[in-house]
Amino acid sequence: MSNTPSSAIESVLVENRVFEPSARAQQGARVAGMAAYQALCQEAQADYEGFWARLAREALVWDKPFTQTLNATQAPFYRWFEDGQLNASANCLDRHMGTEVETKTAIIFESDDGQVTRVTYRELLERVAQFANALKAMGVQKGDRVVVYMPMTIEGVVAMQACARIGATHSVVFGGFSAKALQERIIDAGAVAVITANYQMRGGKELPLKGIVDDAIALGGCDTLRQVLVFQRTATPVNMQAGRDVWLHDALQGQSTQCPAEVVDAEHPLFILYTSGSTGKPKGVQHSTAGYLLWTKLTMQWTFDIRADDIFWCTADIGWITGHSYVAYGPLAAGATQIIFEGVPTYPDASRFWQMIERHGCTVFYTAPTAIRSLIKMAETNDAVHPKHSNLSTLRILGSVGEPINPEAWMWYHEHVGGQRCPIVDTFWQTETGGHMITPLPGATPLVPGSCTLPLPGIAAAIVDETGNDMPNGAGGMLVIKKPWPSMIRNIWGDPERFKKSYFPAEMGGTIYLAGDGAVRSADRGYFRITGRIDDVLNVSGHRLGTMEIESALVAKTDLVAEAAVVGRPDDTTGEAIVAFVVLKRALPSGQEGKQLATELRNWVAKEIGPIAKPKEIRFGENLPKTRSGKIMRRLLRAIAKGEAITQDVSTLENPAILEQLANTH
Ligand code: PRX
Repeated sequence: MSNTPSSAIESVLVENRVFEPSARAQQGARVAGMAAYQALCQEAQADYEGFWARLAREALVWDKPFTQTLNATQAPFYRWFEDGQLNASANCLDRHMGTEVETKTAIIFESDDGQVTRVTYRELLERVAQFANALKAMGVQKGDRVVVYMPMTIEGVVAMQACARIGATHSVVFGGFSAKALQERIIDAGAVAVITANYQMRGGKELPLKGIVDDAIALGGCDTLRQVLVFQRTATPVNMQAGRDVWLHDALQGQSTQCPAEVVDAEHPLFILYTSGSTGKPKGVQHSTAGYLLWTKLTMQWTFDIRADDIFWCTADIGWITGHSYVAYGPLAAGATQIIFEGVPTYPDASRFWQMIERHGCTVFYTAPTAIRSLIKMAETNDAVHPKHSNLSTLRILGSVGEPINPEAWMWYHEHVGGQRCPIVDTFWQTETGGHMITPLPGATPLVPGSCTLPLPGIAAAIVDETGNDMPNGAGGMLVIKKPWPSMIRNIWGDPERFKKSYFPAEMGGTIYLAGDGAVRSADRGYFRITGRIDDVLNVSGHRLGTMEIESALVAKTDLVAEAAVVGRPDDTTGEAIVAFVVLKRALPSGQEGKQLATELRNWVAKEIGPIAKPKEIRFGENLPKTRSGKIMRRLLRAIAKGEAITQDVSTLENPAILEQLANTH
């Protein structure tokens, strides 16, 4: 079993390597030098609303200018730029018409099998407009919810932009989620349509999407759903249900490539994106139009220092928030050229990323630590896929997102990908924050491996105890954001009470945003280091999963499972790995039988939620460690999963003998 992350954390604690921004990184940077960063922070401090108003006026094109910047009367239901009106798609596309961006490449698309397609901003606008007209012809209206279950393709981004163009609220569901997960999201969002593809191509394999949509609908309850729009990605046929299913190419037939953008209020919900919480079903994180878009554009400028000739590449799927902010919206709002990649980093081999950087002259590259760690492993065992064989000299900025990056991986990324010349922006943020919160700025911030360094200007990040008191530097606590910011989550779709309870704890006054992460600031620089979730949320390969969700999936196997508890265990590739402790409705299995049952349960979870939720390990026991009041003692399970000796006090335990059994059943 691995122990890298814990040793990684120790090495962060003693981390004293500092990388000052080079003259090259500072040259012409949007925020050049710490003094420039501090000036922005001071501007925000001196006149908080004035600061955001200035940026919102500069960054966005408004159909109706706003007069009020922040309305906090219903806090924590904050409203930004409330009386202003605009359209997100117009801000990403139409605004560039008549400028030099119009004929610039918006998207360089590389398919799984290596075919490259380029689309200019003008062409993208026409495709989005035509798609929007098709949606309108299907009866989709402003305010309707549309689920997007698409592969990483130009059409995926076009679908999102087309929804935004007509004021429909999209809810993208990652193409790796199961029929059940999809069904739950369709129902919760009350979607009127699903946009999907017949199949998706990943790693040379053709994987179903439309078939899963059919299964999701067959599960029942999708009463609001009227239509399924199907993009034909491959030649393989699928069943089409007359009256419900429409091919995209048929729907686009005869539609005009012009479609005026629907003007919406600043607070109009641009999208809902489901993410895991510590309790219950996934939460529909609701984002606004203006505040969200402002943030994606600003962070493209601040964090990525995006310039006219950059070739930007964010490897995230559009099914996650990173793919929303830094594929579907941010790069377009900033008028950048971006790479969109359909496939996986290991196909046809693990040099794919490096070859693509060379092929397309990528300058700003943004990926997840899990990808870096697995590519390190592969390069170490197979020299042919090492990045040194590719010309990566065009790179000027590297980014990391989704999970803590251990200093070892940071250093490798810095040396072997960035050639020791590219700043690494370790961006801490969440689905709920809409965009970066704590991150270095490439032309300003001295870098410390493993630290996301300092909050962006105007972001009042702090570390506090349970009652909201500030912790001194060097002492760990809970990460909070003390002031509202434009791109913050607006609500949990349909569940305002859960929104308040999850993010704005009453013990802290009810208006401070609780991130759900632990963090500590360094004694010397006050730099932030994220220590991981403080709730029952796991981060597996940068994917967020609630332990409760996985437990619910396990106990839904009613013929077999009596009880289940899920915890995370450090893993040197995926960050965390899922370990499930299961009490069966039958005698404790042994040997081969145990292995078979574990496989059956792992596959069951994949079917219920998606392959990303598959437990890495399943341990069977006759019981779970519980207090006398019946509460499962997860900290003991975490220790067992890690292979640690139990040193904690177990005197409150109902059944101490179970610990030994669980420790030995794998
Ligand atoms: O635990 C933090 C971790 O990912 C969580 C947010 O997950 P999600 O909403 O899926 O968004 C991921 C992409 C932004 C956080 O609560 N996390 C994200 N970025 C970092 C991170 N942990 C450490 N360092 C980061 N840079």
